[in-house]
Amino acid sequence: MSLPGAPFVAYGGDELFIDGCAASELGERFGTPLYVYSRRAMLAALEPYQRALQGRQHLICYAMKANSSLAVLQTFAAAGCGFDIVSGGELQRVLAAGGDPGKVVFSGLGKTRAEMKLALEVGVRCFNVESEAELDQLSAVAASLGHRAPVSLRVNPDVDARTHPYISTGLKDNKFGIAHERAVETYRRAARLPGLEVVGIDCHIGSQITEIGPYLDALDRLLDLVEAVEAEGVSIRHLDLGGGLGIRYTDETPPAADALIAALLERIDARGHSHRALVFEPGRSLVGNAGVLLGEVLYLKPGTAAEENSTGPGKNFCIVDVAMNDLMRPAMYGATMAIVACQSRNEPQTVYDVVGPVCESGDWLGRDRALAVRPGDRIAVLSAGAYGMSMASNYNSRPRAAEVMVDGEHAALIRERETPAELFRGEHLLPR
Ligand code: LLP
Repeated sequence: MSLPGAPFVAYGGDELFIDGCAASELGERFGTPLYVYSRRAMLAALEPYQRALQGRQHLICYAMKANSSLAVLQTFAAAGCGFDIVSGGELQRVLAAGGDPGKVVFSGLGKTRAEMKLALEVGVRCFNVESEAELDQLSAVAASLGHRAPVSLRVNPDVDARTHPYISTGLKDNKFGIAHERAVETYRRAARLPGLEVVGIDCHIGSQITEIGPYLDALDRLLDLVEAVEAEGVSIRHLDLGGGLGIRYTDETPPAADALIAALLERIDARGHSHRALVFEPGRSLVGNAGVLLGEVLYLKPGTAAEENSTGPGKNFCIVDVAMNDLMRPAMYGATMAIVACQSRNEPQTVYDVVGPVCESGDWLGRDRALAVRPGDRIAVLSAGAYGMSMASNYNSRPRAAEVMVDGEHAALIRERETPAELFRGEHLLPR
């Protein structure tokens, strides 16, 4: 079977290539841990969204929490995308990357006054509001600046996205959004508040969704609300259906973006809502398979042999220079991500737990992986373009990885490896 990320992540003979660049050479040149992204893979992931939405008034707002590196934002901005942001920091990144604030939707359930003010000053396209209290505060902040804030209400449609509980967001018990039953009343209130202008409705039901059904269920509930709200004289211009489309990490079979959108458009048209502008907030599906995380094998630690009365042989460990601080997903969600050798060896494979140097048993990248590797070999964690670098930390005082963007045979350093001095920048010793 092809690797996740194919055709941009694939073997050419014994060498793993990311687009036109050999992974082992990139590891050699830039050092490891190293995130490598293919620009062409990102644009190829965007294309089916754009194609399926052609001829409709629409905006694809890349959910930048998936990967907020400036060169990634620059790539999507140049391709015409807007951005889904969740903090003032993300907004500053959009501006630094040359993105258009007029194409930004501001999501998130805990926006501060300062964040609201900044977003109003630069003129974001819409605030996706998640509670009645937030609505009141946004109105007050906007009115104090002499603005009217464009708002959409994030509705919690109470549908099950059938994904990991930590990344499921559209259930009643999740902290997100305004309860479906309260939505019409909340729109009434929004329409009355002086600092607001109602422009849309939105939902986001979860992440790594691999079926179309939950999207259609959420869409139906949203359209029911749009009809009820408009019957009261409040008009809703755009429908924002969030992000959440899954990718293949190992053997998942998510729908293609164009198939998902076609199914949604068919339902929108059948219910007579063709005239509405559409917003989507994809994150993972645009960048996940466009990136890999390269590391080096430091040590191999064989398990103890099976002894009489023991439960079996101990585990073999493949200790690499990449750890949970670089890539949290396995430790945090038990996520399974493919791990391959950058240069395949024609030698028998051994089953290893691939682990990092961090002092926690939870610091593993993959369990029970068959690999033929020796110390000094480079390995690649695949599908690491989303929620990899953007969730990285400095735990164990480990500098964050460098990042490279490749385009054909060209490789550009887009983020320098953090230096030890940067680790304690801004810290102070107590006066002696
Ligand atoms: N819109 C909103 C309001 C969101 O909360 C999210 C993701 C997205 C869009 C983008 O969803 P995507 O298309 O990427 O699925 N760290 C987790 C994923 C957390 C997703 C949070 N919200 C992971 O590594 O799996």
